[in-house]
Amino acid sequence: MGAPAAVRIRHDLQTRLLQARARTDRIFALIREEAIFDRPIAERHRLIFYLGHVDAFDWNLLGRRAFGLRSFQPALDQLFAFGIDPVGGGLPTDGPLDWPTRREVDRYNLHLREALDSAIESALEHPSEGHPQLLEMLETAIEHRLMHAETLAYLLHRLPYDSKLCDAQPLRTRSRQVKPDLVEIPEGDATLGLNDRNGEVFGWDNERGEYCVTVPPFAIERYSVTNGDFLRFIQAGGYQHRSLWSAKDWAWKEQDGVAHPAFWRRNGNIWMLRGMFEEFRLPPDWPVYVSHAEASAYANWLGRRLPNEEQFHRAAFGVPGSSSERQYPWGSERPSAKHGNFDFAHWDPVPVDSHPAGASAFGVHDLVGNGWEWTRTIFGPLPGFSAMPFYPGYSANFFDGKHYVMKGGSPRTAACMLRRSFRNWFQPHYPFVYATFRCVED
Ligand code: AVJ
Ligand code: FE
Repeated sequence: MGAPAAVRIRHDLQTRLLQARARTDRIFALIREEAIFDRPIAERHRLIFYLGHVDAFDWNLLGRRAFGLRSFQPALDQLFAFGIDPVGGGLPTDGPLDWPTRREVDRYNLHLREALDSAIESALEHPSEGHPQLLEMLETAIEHRLMHAETLAYLLHRLPYDSKLCDAQPLRTRSRQVKPDLVEIPEGDATLGLNDRNGEVFGWDNERGEYCVTVPPFAIERYSVTNGDFLRFIQAGGYQHRSLWSAKDWAWKEQDGVAHPAFWRRNGNIWMLRGMFEEFRLPPDWPVYVSHAEASAYANWLGRRLPNEEQFHRAAFGVPGSSSERQYPWGSERPSAKHGNFDFAHWDPVPVDSHPAGASAFGVHDLVGNGWEWTRTIFGPLPGFSAMPFYPGYSANFFDGKHYVMKGGSPRTAACMLRRSFRNWFQPHYPFVYATFRCVED
C-alpha cells in the first residue's frame, strides 16, 4: 500500500503548486528585461501586472484568507489582485511608471512564496485544524496560475520577436490539405458538469452541478477547420458578405478593419502565420485560430452552425450504441502526448489529423487539444450553480450574455484542465486566443 491519503494529498498539492510556479516562471524568463512594461494586447494589462498577479492571487487567497497572515505589502496585494475583461469600457490608460519595477515585484513574490510555503507545509500536517476549504483553495490557486500560463502565452504571442528569447521547436506541417468530412452522431445523452456527489473532485463553480440532456441527431466535422479551409472562405469574399455576419460581429469587423485572422499576415501574394517565435508560410493543415465572430461567419457560409455545448459533449464523450459516456474522447486513460497537442507540448498547433489515438468513439479528431473549440452556447450557470465563497466573481462576473463557451484545450492548456466538465469562455471579438472551431449540421 502507498502512503496514507492525507500525506499523498499533501505531497501532491505542494508538488503541483511548485510545478505550476515553474511553468509561469519559465514564461516570464522568456521576456527581455526592457519588455516587461509592454502591453502586447491593448485591452489587457501590461506584462508586469501578470508577474505580480499570479503570486498576489495566491497570497490573497491562501496567505491572507486561509491562514490569516499579515500582509507585508498591502498596496501590492491590492494592485495585483484582479485582471481586466474589457466589456464595454474603454482601453486602459496607465503608463509604465504607474507600476513597481521588476525587481520590486520579484522581491514581493519571493517574500510571499516563502511565507506561504511554510504556512502550507504546517497546515497540511494538521489538515483538520486549518481552514475547512484549504484543499479546494490550493487547487484553485494551482489552476488559476496554470490558466494564466496559457493567457500569458496569448500575450507573449503578440510581443515582437526581438522582445523575447527564442524557444522555437521544429515546425510540424505536411503542407497539404486535410480532406473535410462530416460524422453523423445519432441521438443520445450528454452529461455536462461534474459528476461528484461527495464533493471530492476539484472543479470550478461553473462546472457544478450535473446536467444531463438528450441531444437530437446531428453531423459534425471530423477535423477542426484548417487554415487551408479558412483561406477558401477568405478567397470567396467571406469578410465582404454582410449576410454571413451578425450585426454586432459585422460592426466589430468594420470598426477594427478585420480582414483575416489575427494570427495571419499577407505578404504580397503569400499568407504568413505568426508563430510564437517565428513567422512561417501558412501551414494549410493546422487548425485555424479565429474569433467567435469569424468562426460563425465561416459556418454560415457553409450553411452550418457552430456546435452548442451539448453537441460538443455528445461528439466528444458519447459512445455509439451505448448510453455510457467517456471521461476523455479516447476513454479513461490519463491524457498523454499521443492523445493530443496539450499540456505545453508545443507553442503552436500541429496538423489536425496528428492524433488518431485521441479521437472520440465517433471518430472525431482533436476535440481536446490543438486549440479550444468555440461553441454557440453563451456562458452561463449550470442548474444548481452557486459561486465559490472565496472567489465569488470567478464565473458569475461573466454571466452577462457577452461570453461564449469554449471546450477542449489548446497546446498551452495544462493536463489537469482537460477534464470533461471544464468550461472556458471568451468574448466573441477577442481574436488572440488559441481557439479554433468546427461546424455542425443540425
Ligand atoms: C477562464 C480563461 C476566461 O483569463 O479571464 C484568470 C481565467 N480568471 N484569472 C480569464 C482567469 C481570473 C479566465 N478564463
Ligand atoms: Fe487571474
